[in-house]
Amino acid sequence: MISANLRNYLLSFIFVIFVVNEVAALPLSGVDNRKFGIILDAGSSSTKLRIYTWEDTIESVPKFDEYFYKKVKPGISSFHEDADEISVYIRNILAILKVELVEELWSSTPLYFMATAGLRLLDEETTSSIMSAVQEVLLNIDENPFQFEEENAHILAGEEEALFAWLTVNYLNDFFAAKRPASESLGLIELGGGSAQIAFIPDDPIYAGKMPATIAGKEYGVYCHSYLSYGATLMSERITELLIQENKHANVIINPCMLKGDSRNGTLGNKMVAMIGGGNASLCEDLLKYYLAPAEADMCSPKPCSIGQVYQPSVKNRKFFTFGLIYYLAKDFNILTKPGILNLKQMQNTVREYCEKSYEHATTVLGMSEEYASRNCQDGLYIPLLFSAVGLDIDNVFAAKDMQGSSVAWSLGGILYEEERNRYQELTSQLMEL
Ligand SMILES: *[C@@H]1O[C@H](CO)[C@@H](O)[C@H](O)[C@H]1NC(C)=O
Ligand SMILES: *[C@@H]1O[C@H](CO)[C@@H](O)[C@H](O)[C@H]1NC(C)=O
Repeated sequence: MISANLRNYLLSFIFVIFVVNEVAALPLSGVDNRKFGIILDAGSSSTKLRIYTWEDTIESVPKFDEYFYKKVKPGISSFHEDADEISVYIRNILAILKVELVEELWSSTPLYFMATAGLRLLDEETTSSIMSAVQEVLLNIDENPFQFEEENAHILAGEEEALFAWLTVNYLNDFFAAKRPASESLGLIELGGGSAQIAFIPDDPIYAGKMPATIAGKEYGVYCHSYLSYGATLMSERITELLIQENKHANVIINPCMLKGDSRNGTLGNKMVAMIGGGNASLCEDLLKYYLAPAEADMCSPKPCSIGQVYQPSVKNRKFFTFGLIYYLAKDFNILTKPGILNLKQMQNTVREYCEKSYEHATTVLGMSEEYASRNCQDGLYIPLLFSAVGLDIDNVFAAKDMQGSSVAWSLGGILYEEERNRYQELTSQLMEL
């Protein structure tokens, strides 16, 4: 046990180094019949603290409001295995939450700690020591006054994250409350740095990758898949590695996915080479397609396959929603038509032209950032190819920053999922007692 003085000292230290931004709180009204729930979204560069509130009602779908939001930097994976630093980090988060919620709500407010990509990419040993350091603080009722049990803290599988994001999108689109038919649900596609996620209710039966969710008493079977290593940053790294492998003896390599006039160093193991931009869209697309090709028919079972041997039911005419990276890229290239429809053909044409511009032109005339000028070429070529690999058509994808004014964070779907599960459990135990 560390002394209270040392603890206070460490806490004040942590307040100095953690950059904290964006705070929002709604006015509280009628606290009596309101419930609260906390989601800690532990990502690679930050932990996002969200407190949701909703009216405790037995009917239909609760209406969730985001009561509090704060981003704490850096992400938990940056502490590696240092259990002491992790404890201080979690205590700091608990201290922030305790200020935001009045004491009488603490014990009835569930707290979930859900980690994503940053932790999924570390080795098992590191991950498990990080998670046990987190558990140690959260399971200690002297430190954590919120409602918590061991299962509340875990690393989300890519499919869970996809399901939660799908729930968020459809919740915000009023799909559950209006009890619309499955054909009116929206699909979700999302591109992150490490992985790409897809989730939707197909017209056909689901043979694998089915994630069940019960919302307002109705069960939905959602096909969810996370294409690990198909995120934008990892694709860029894989292309670098492929080029180095293909040019074993070269010290200088032309990378067609980088703009002419741009240069950077690429590494494979301990080999470092200089890469210079080739600005050739069709060669870059060939490299990307190498990773996106579907398996031969005899290697694909169950059918159909999307990328490699990954089974994915057909998306048919389902409308899809996307946000985050894809939205920002589409906005940079100015290709969103008024209601936010992503025209993939137009995207392809615009980006192909862009890739032939020089780095100088892109950063000065077109105003692209120095860091992302070349990446925008590669990512912009990648998105339409990725979409067509999973079967998405021109004009069936909407891209937006948010939905009905709410940010499309998976954590909203997470609290919806957990709350619905709790309500269902309460209901069944009540029925058992009858
Ligand atoms: C690449 O590495 C070399 C040698 O370490 C260094 O001099 C050069 O500045 C690096 N180039 C870039 C673009 O980072
Ligand atoms: C891209 O590379 C291919 C193959 O080397 C070449 O035929 C084509 O002209 C190049 N395109 C541009 C725009 O440089």
